[in-house]
Amino acid sequence: MSNNTEEQITQNVLDSIANTPNPRLKQVMSSLISHLHAFIREVELTQEEWNLGIQFLTRTGQMCDEKRQEFILLSDVTGVSMLVDAINHRQPGGATESTVFGPFYRAGAPELPPGASISQDKRGEPVVVSGRVLSTDGTPIAGALLDIWETDENGLYEQQDPDQPDMNLRGKFRTDQQGRYCFVGIKPVSYSIPADGPVGQLLRALARHSFRPAHIHLLISAEGFVPVTTHLFVKGDPYLDSDAVFGTKDSLVVDFVRRDSPEEAARYHLTPPFYTVEYDFVLQPALL
Ligand code: BEZ
Ligand code: FE
Repeated sequence: MSNNTEEQITQNVLDSIANTPNPRLKQVMSSLISHLHAFIREVELTQEEWNLGIQFLTRTGQMCDEKRQEFILLSDVTGVSMLVDAINHRQPGGATESTVFGPFYRAGAPELPPGASISQDKRGEPVVVSGRVLSTDGTPIAGALLDIWETDENGLYEQQDPDQPDMNLRGKFRTDQQGRYCFVGIKPVSYSIPADGPVGQLLRALARHSFRPAHIHLLISAEGFVPVTTHLFVKGDPYLDSDAVFGTKDSLVVDFVRRDSPEEAARYHLTPPFYTVEYDFVLQPALL
């Protein structure tokens, strides 16, 4: 144990945690140490690179406050968030696929009647989103809750933009007895994740952009079912194949169909042009 040579150091560190009482902590830390040491050996990390890494992590921590979580952003752009999500949401039986939660959710969005608009400032191109929430056996789920959020047409969430009203483009909707929901939002735009910190610097150094394809966020829950955190992406978006946070899934890409009929628009108190999207969400029954 005292001879900490290049050959022996890894085993010595593993031996030092042999008495960890929590078996899961022991498993996670043993694996982390083994992989970290293997990585350092593989790239033969220089002293200068080690120093740069420490400085990068320090700046990442210093960027964090109640509004900004640079470590989660780092996890997002390295695909870690989506891998953890995938491992923990292996939804059998055709349940709606999950994707990244992101840092811009706010609890307490207003519950609105079916067909209402979540846009308070009436900017952007309106979209009527409708469909059903179903169980994996096809039964409609009455009273399911859809908690929705999206950016304004400038690509900013309301808490990032002092010009937007509080809770703009956020709303909750419940399904009716037939499991149907309907809300009016705006056709989402692709936007840049926060790129003014160390994560943005890393993306530029790796010749990567910081854009996400246009999407609407939804958190869907119902009593007795596993909730799902998901998105609806816009078919044809140029960033679908290069989402900065690797959040895209084929099953969540939908057609935003342009409508020009004034009669149809009037049904939703809109003026043309507007868009429609139809999508059924599927929830997995919770294990008793
Ligand atoms: C979002 O879609 O809101 C988001 C997700 C991950 C990182 C930044 C933003
Ligand atoms: Fe988003």
